[in-house]
Amino acid sequence: MQCIDNADITQLNTFGVQAKAKKLWQVKSEQEFSELASRYQQTERPLLLGGGSNLLFEGDFDGEIFHIQTQGVEYSTVSQDQVEVRAQAGENWHQLVQQTLASGLSGLENLALIPGTVGAAPIQNIGAYGLELKDRLVTVETIDLKHNERLVFAQQDCQFGYRDSLFKQNLGRYLITAVTFKLSTRFSPVLNYAPLTELAQAKNLTAMDVFNCVVATRREKLPDPSQIGNAGSFFKNPIIASSHAEELKLQFPNMPIYPVDEHSTKVAAGWLIDQLGLKGFRDGDIGIHKKQALVLVNYGKGSGRALNELANSIIKKVYQQFAIELEKEVRIISDRGQ
Ligand code: FAD
Ligand code: EPU
Repeated sequence: MQCIDNADITQLNTFGVQAKAKKLWQVKSEQEFSELASRYQQTERPLLLGGGSNLLFEGDFDGEIFHIQTQGVEYSTVSQDQVEVRAQAGENWHQLVQQTLASGLSGLENLALIPGTVGAAPIQNIGAYGLELKDRLVTVETIDLKHNERLVFAQQDCQFGYRDSLFKQNLGRYLITAVTFKLSTRFSPVLNYAPLTELAQAKNLTAMDVFNCVVATRREKLPDPSQIGNAGSFFKNPIIASSHAEELKLQFPNMPIYPVDEHSTKVAAGWLIDQLGLKGFRDGDIGIHKKQALVLVNYGKGSGRALNELANSIIKKVYQQFAIELEKEVRIISDRGQ
């Protein structure tokens, strides 16, 4: 592994906040994983890093970052119309989606344009437009960094939930080294999420059509991190008691709600923040995106600390107004770790 001391990590987080790390280890091949594991165990403050698109550095990080950059994708046919695709952790997620579609395989098109790496994708079970990673995932290959042993998790053992998994519950314990997906040569579209529902009428619909629709919708709503720093939705959509949701619905008939089960209901955090009149809020170089109140943005030289303070003030205001506690989706990395 190559190491950079006192490394500038401004380009390694999609918020683009200026920060440095004491050490930055570049992990480019599978052979380096055993070196990573032993170094990781000796380090007081280690941090695994992929594309830096779901974390916020509050300031400089007084620890050692292991930047996973391993590359490689393998295909193996498992039945007449099903192919398993095994991708290394450092592969770019969106490029994998494109590459599988170009190879005639459908299944990942709803998850187009999500930034970050393959290795980080199972951590919060990435999801969008009616699909979650778990719906296509077969196995997750890991190294248990506590006991330095290789473990392979089958899908049903990963405890996947909404933006949740066993790996997120034990953050920093498992290094994800590779992920295997089951994709298909026969396209069966998932179109239950607006605006994809409109495609249900289309003749000869292809996976590429769904991909293009998802990409266009995302480009319209979400800021491109190369233009405006952000980490996507800053908060999870809260799941509350259905009785509470019903009370709110009487007060706010327009409030979007999504039933989870008979007792609980998911509400749209973006809508809650929007109701407070905060969409488009700006204070110097930090703010809330003009088109999506769930996305905090850095217009240039905004600091991680200021962004986190803004997030905390949003949590407080939403609680005061709706008695709903928002949970951060984005991992906050202080100088001492996450
Ligand atoms: P990082 O930010 O580098 O890391 C995230 C966490 O995973 C950290 O805790 C890190 O320590 C850990 N980690 C990273 N790599 C590994 C590894 N190999 N092994 C173990 N732990 C690891 N997410 C969605 O679910 N749906 C969306 O629609 C979505 N849209 C987004 C849109 C934008 C514009 C942006 C900026 C983000 C969006 N996200 C979305 C969030 C983000 O893209 C995902 O969470 C993504 O999976 C993060 O990948 P990463 O490689 O950047 O992870
Ligand atoms: N809304 C508002 N105002 C806003 C934002 C949203 O009123 O400022 C309303 C919308 O009109 C809609 C509802 O809230 O009725 C939901 O909005 P949207 O469809 O944009 O989705 P979201 O809940 O804000 C979630 C995910 C995204 C994912 C999209 C599409 C979470 C936390 N976010 O956003 O994931 O891409 O759905 O499936 O679940 C991410 O996790 O980083 C992320 C971007």
